[in-house]
Amino acid sequence: MHNKYLVTDEWRIIENRWNPELHQGSESLFSIGNGFMGQRANFEEDYSGQSLQGSYLGGVYYPDKTRVGWWKNGYPEYFAKVLNSVNWIGIRFEINGEILDLAKAKVLDFHRELNMQEGVLYRNFKVELSSGLSFKAEVSRFISMQRKEIGAIQYSFQVEGGDAEVKVTPYLDFDVVNHDSNYDEKFWEGISQTADETSSQVKARTRKLDFEVSAATQFKLLENGTAFSANSESSSRDKYAESCLTFKAHEGSIYQLQKFAAICSSFHFGKEMLDQKAKDLAAEATELGFEALLKEQKSDWTRRWEQSDIIIDGDAEAQQGIRFNIFQLTQTYTGEDARLNIGPKGFTGEKYGGSTYWDTEAYCLPFYMASAGKEVARNLLVYRYNHLPKAIENAEKLGFTNGAALYPMVTMNGEECHNEWEITFEEIHRNGAIAYAIFNYTRYFGDETYLAEYGLEVLIGIARFWAQRFNWSEAKQQYVMLGVTGPNEYENNVNNNWYTNYLAKWCIEYAAEVYKKVEANDPSALERIKSKANFNSTAELEHWQEITAKVYLPSDAEKGIVLQQEGFLDKEQRMADDLPIEERPINQHWSWDRILRSCFIKQADVLQGFYFFEDHFSEEELRRNFEFYEPRTVHESSLSPCVHVVQAAKLNMMDKAYEMYLRTSRLDLDDYNREVHEGLHITSMAGTWLSVVEGFGGMRVKNGQLHFNPRLPEHWHSLSFKINFRNSVLQIELSNSNHKIEKLSGEPVEVLVHGETISL
Ligand code: BGC
Repeated sequence: MHNKYLVTDEWRIIENRWNPELHQGSESLFSIGNGFMGQRANFEEDYSGQSLQGSYLGGVYYPDKTRVGWWKNGYPEYFAKVLNSVNWIGIRFEINGEILDLAKAKVLDFHRELNMQEGVLYRNFKVELSSGLSFKAEVSRFISMQRKEIGAIQYSFQVEGGDAEVKVTPYLDFDVVNHDSNYDEKFWEGISQTADETSSQVKARTRKLDFEVSAATQFKLLENGTAFSANSESSSRDKYAESCLTFKAHEGSIYQLQKFAAICSSFHFGKEMLDQKAKDLAAEATELGFEALLKEQKSDWTRRWEQSDIIIDGDAEAQQGIRFNIFQLTQTYTGEDARLNIGPKGFTGEKYGGSTYWDTEAYCLPFYMASAGKEVARNLLVYRYNHLPKAIENAEKLGFTNGAALYPMVTMNGEECHNEWEITFEEIHRNGAIAYAIFNYTRYFGDETYLAEYGLEVLIGIARFWAQRFNWSEAKQQYVMLGVTGPNEYENNVNNNWYTNYLAKWCIEYAAEVYKKVEANDPSALERIKSKANFNSTAELEHWQEITAKVYLPSDAEKGIVLQQEGFLDKEQRMADDLPIEERPINQHWSWDRILRSCFIKQADVLQGFYFFEDHFSEEELRRNFEFYEPRTVHESSLSPCVHVVQAAKLNMMDKAYEMYLRTSRLDLDDYNREVHEGLHITSMAGTWLSVVEGFGGMRVKNGQLHFNPRLPEHWHSLSFKINFRNSVLQIELSNSNHKIEKLSGEPVEVLVHGETISL
């Protein structure tokens, strides 16, 4: 069913033999980044085998003109792509005239390792060249967490079997492509390039939007630890610069090329200063040296792990899985810049464009709230506040009025920019996730100032949208919502999707509740918001109430369940387990027509609603709906299993919970969906965190208090993690029979375990 080739280790991801057929997947798995940029685990040296070159910079994107056969009003003009950017890692090797290329040489030994504790990618290999000489290398590479523009490589190598004439060529290359480009265009045009014997620099501009990026490198060559200068020849051409270092390599000597790169983009710096900035930063890193930078990197990661680590005692695979997820989330988003967000593939691949989806609010926020703290979480919310004017424009383009806001399903700068009409467009439920995140954040931090400062304005826009999107049905004498796609993308354009109707109703109610709160707590803020939003409180609040009292929510009394959509029971009812293995995943084997007509569910839809609004339903209602919907769910979205873990654990269906847990936590490591070569599923990694903390740990925030109802898989001896809750940092250790909760810092706090209060 899936690929298992990595060694199980609690802190490291290890590949201990050369698997060329899996290399593109490994390039994703061993990706490194620092929240501002990321790099797939491409080789430094030339590689002519199957590979996806990828180096990405946060905020630097390309609006690729939408490709559709027949244009219709309301289509997004472009799809925003995370841009493949400068290849800063490149180092070409030529040994006695032969180019080092692992696709051509005979690989005798190969070991690749991502050390998650240190934030460093290591690789050792030995190859036999056609001349009969052997080439042995040890490579370390990282992107600095502390210095957002810096990447560093130490490439140690030896030649065995005789002396050899070696050419080592560190280079910078902006002549890169995006494989997912709509029109096979190149996205960069060169501005300038230079190279000399110890440095190079290339500056380029994106063809649209005029982002400018300057990359500078410096390098050092050492023989047995001592710097030496080789014969150097530098050259450059449009978008490219290299320095070719030629020397005689002696058998028995160890050589090292250290390469320090600084990449500065106009997203962060003024264009006029880019070149100088990159040059200075590269010089500063070189001056510090590889060892000092590495030390800094290790201690930065130690500090981050102190806050965010989860320890699972008794299950090494599960342990590796959760750490891998936390590691990747941390290197995708650090929360220092409210203009950045968390793309579904982060900096590890092109698909999904690196843009922001509802994934952030629906799945990622809790991880960052609990492990990165309030400021980081708040920046995720402010991101959407800053996009409110665009969300209002998006809604206007579709014919909505009076400040109704429809947030985009896919975005870089607030504009809708998805590539796919039929699924994505009608997934208007995303608007609800953005409102839910405001609720979730306030519930978690008890920070109601956010509501007056930013939250209410967003909620008014969202509530206005829903109030206009519902329509009165004479036939039903209720408000209905037609033509939507729920989270289950295997049903498009349906009427009265229960999740969307329920969420929309809740959003309007919540907006009214927050309005009253701000009215009571901060009347002057309310006046400001009312006049800015031109909010007619009497008429609008009354209209909202009229709608929410009469929303149609489809259900089936006989089965005691809610209905995913009005016609769900008309479908032929089949179970996912009865699908022949060779037809799965169905999205790769069935026609779209067949999928849409089937009862198979891609990801939690009704159950997503039960997850968000757990307290609105009894455990019995949850059980009936879970038992009905889960067996029809094929979990073909990476976002699916986590919600099911949380619910299965609550219902004490521990086998199901554990099965789903492995699927979410090792989704990429074991390549369950056979697509890891395209990049990692970053946003679903936050779902893994939810599975552990909310699922097995049973953590909830209710009435301002933290609750735990641990229910661990039987073979887990204990589960430990830290939680940053309302100015206190807590160390939680849970097992099925015991618990230990300690306050490490902060104010006094009460925690409930299985309903019993513990004062800390
Ligand atoms: C899921 C969406 C999700 C998107 C990006 C899709 O496969 O169905 O819910 O937003 O991936 O992760």
